[in-house]
Amino acid sequence: MKGIILAGGSATRLYPLSKAISKQIMPVYDKPMIYYPLSTLMLAGIREVLIISTPRDLPVFRELLGTGEELGMSFEYCVQERPEGLAQAFVLGADFLNGGPGCLILGDNLFYGQGFSAMLHRASALKKGACIFGYSVKDPRAYGVVEFDDRGRVLSLEEKPEHPRSHYAVPGLYFYDATVTAKAASLRPSARGEYEITDLNKLYLEEGTLRVEIFGRGFAWLDTGNCDSLLEAGNFVATIQNRQGYRVSCIEEIAWRKGWIDNRQLQTLGERLGKTEYGRYLMELATSGKHKKQNT
Ligand code: DAU
Repeated sequence: MKGIILAGGSATRLYPLSKAISKQIMPVYDKPMIYYPLSTLMLAGIREVLIISTPRDLPVFRELLGTGEELGMSFEYCVQERPEGLAQAFVLGADFLNGGPGCLILGDNLFYGQGFSAMLHRASALKKGACIFGYSVKDPRAYGVVEFDDRGRVLSLEEKPEHPRSHYAVPGLYFYDATVTAKAASLRPSARGEYEITDLNKLYLEEGTLRVEIFGRGFAWLDTGNCDSLLEAGNFVATIQNRQGYRVSCIEEIAWRKGWIDNRQLQTLGERLGKTEYGRYLMELATSGKHKKQNT
């Protein structure tokens, strides 16, 4: 399966921070925000990724991430002229997907928790339909909201409802079968003028092929839409890393653990980061390999 990272939008809620630079390039503790969604795709085993952003910001992502070859991956880039909705990613990405299935992740969504890789592998193996996720939040009004019956079957999906029917928000991570491009192309803009991802999910729901997996209480889904949530996400990553000594969403480490790059390539990537803690971490992995047995 191929993956798409949607990293556009104007992020006006972060002004003046985001007035001149992309939100998804900003630091979440020790790495650019886009590393987190990219690492999620990598953990799902996805090696071919399309990065979509604004005409202003796309060159910066290209400079940061390059062709992907250094990670044993392949990156392509595509401009979204205006932020006309998340589902537009599949119209813009139609050539890239080339009639195949696709996973979309939002450039500002951060996931962390035990068992995540296994869930991602299950989701990316889907042959028919869609797989999305549910996560209980205190106030779901700012999100897509999914409602279940007593037996866990999906009853409804609503985008930013004023009166949510459940506490389950739908995070910005979506797996779709090969019909996704045709379905996305059939959508009409919503009342707020956007091609809504929730409308795309509803097509799968109506078809009876939508699966919703729940992330439990022990799992972290963070978004970074305002200054508080950005700071909280940074503190979260710092807390875990400083406690464990493992880096969260370290794309070079994941590529190495997956066997997409070897010790020598990891060493080179580490050396290029100079005398930073991050660079030293990569070089230590490459030389000792002592953490290699651990799962990512
Ligand atoms: O974070 C999960 C939520 O993401 C879902 O629960 C909602 O169903 C979904 O609509 C979306 O809601 P948001 O309010 O977070 O969407 P927002 O417009 O803020 O866009 C999310 C990210 O995608 C943001 O970083 C900007 C980027 N984006 C957004 C749009 C509309 C684009 O790159 N292009 C776009 O056209």
